[in-house]
Amino acid sequence: MKNIHRTRNPFRFNSLILFLSASLIFTACQANEEIRGEEYAVLTHAPAVPASIERDYPTKVIIELETTERVGRLADGVEYTFWTFGGEVPGKFIRVREGDLVEFHLNNRPDSKMPHNIDLHAVTGPGGGAASSFTAPGKGTIFSFTALNPGLFIYHCATAPVGMHIANGMYGLILVEPKEGFPPVDREYYVMQSEFYTGGAYGEGGLQPFDMGKALLETPDYVVFNGSVGSLTGDNAIVANVGETVRLFVGNAGPNLVSSFHVIGEIFDIVYVEGGTVANQKNVQSTLIPAGGSAIVEFRVDVPGTFLLVDHSIFRAFNKGALGMLTVHGEQQPEIYSGLQKERVYLPEGGGIQVIQGEELPVPVLSGAEKIEEGGRLYSQNCAACHQPEGQGIAGAFPPLAGSDYLLADSQRAIGIVVNGLSGPIVVNGETYNGVMPGVLLSDSDIANILTFVLNSFGNEDGEIFAEDVARVRAQH
Ligand code: CU
Repeated sequence: MKNIHRTRNPFRFNSLILFLSASLIFTACQANEEIRGEEYAVLTHAPAVPASIERDYPTKVIIELETTERVGRLADGVEYTFWTFGGEVPGKFIRVREGDLVEFHLNNRPDSKMPHNIDLHAVTGPGGGAASSFTAPGKGTIFSFTALNPGLFIYHCATAPVGMHIANGMYGLILVEPKEGFPPVDREYYVMQSEFYTGGAYGEGGLQPFDMGKALLETPDYVVFNGSVGSLTGDNAIVANVGETVRLFVGNAGPNLVSSFHVIGEIFDIVYVEGGTVANQKNVQSTLIPAGGSAIVEFRVDVPGTFLLVDHSIFRAFNKGALGMLTVHGEQQPEIYSGLQKERVYLPEGGGIQVIQGEELPVPVLSGAEKIEEGGRLYSQNCAACHQPEGQGIAGAFPPLAGSDYLLADSQRAIGIVVNGLSGPIVVNGETYNGVMPGVLLSDSDIANILTFVLNSFGNEDGEIFAEDVARVRAQH
């Protein structure tokens, strides 16, 4: 404008008129977007997401968020002193509209030991708000910002030492909905990946301290969704029905690792890469989420079953906790996915798969000793990573098979667990385990051999399981 006003060149008169007209139109549009009224934001704990915004105008949104420091569950038998936004890890989900004037009230509980602040990546301003929100225990601060850019943003504490405040759980997501909103879906969920660096190794029980050395080396003991091992499995699984559309708001707090976010058995129909507002990728298997970044993924669930959310840096999923579950209810859809149709013997030397008169070939009959030997080989490939090579399990994470009262009490139940998997709490030798074991995708005879091996190893006395036993249990399910 200033340059235009200084202009004295008459040849520019027409363009000046054009510019002024355009400015008037722009101002009129802005008038439609004047801030109207005020409201308190409704915030949710993960995996819940606040309802989508129905307003077609910006308002003043007041956000009240409290920082706390408290001991909580990191895994079964493992506790950690979490620093939180809103009492849980991750912090509460915030949902505002593009153009909203956000008045942020950050309150630090009087029983906190540390000062905290907040850096919202949705903020245009110094420190993302951190420069204005340093809050000592027993104090509150207020600052305001206009949500200029729509998108899905991380927020986190940025008080020194920053890495430690993030590593202890101080992060969450803020969604700035674009003016035009998002297309409607049937389900929305909040999933946040992060790491924990503990004094003890994964699964080591008791109250675990933060380990700065491991954090510097970027070697976490835990990589989890929503703040703890098992927060999205078993009874905590997120759910949907066949035919519904699901939108996941996924954040990665780090503090160090990049996430290769994947849902086993699903394909993301749409990805808003890096949490921006352009649905810019279709038909994606795994999407990369930077530390301090996000992604929005959408997909229709077409078949029933359990779908695992993982970081496909896969040891993190099966050995460090980065595992969640989406349970889809509904009728089987065999035209999309048939399930196991037939199992048969494969003999490469004999010219590949042979089927005699449409019947399966007989499984070779093994002696008891041969079954144990074969079962041991299969155990080392399929079971030892969790239950450990000597069947001793991992305290707080994977129950022992050696001398397990739970296993030895009921062989039919044991078969069912191997075939169908198990999630939810069980008590083994007086210890509660609340993990997730997927069903083992092996033949009836292989499962019989593994169980026979287990019943005759690690000090377990004896027992024999037959393929027919496994087939009977499988048929019951
Ligand atoms: Cu902090």
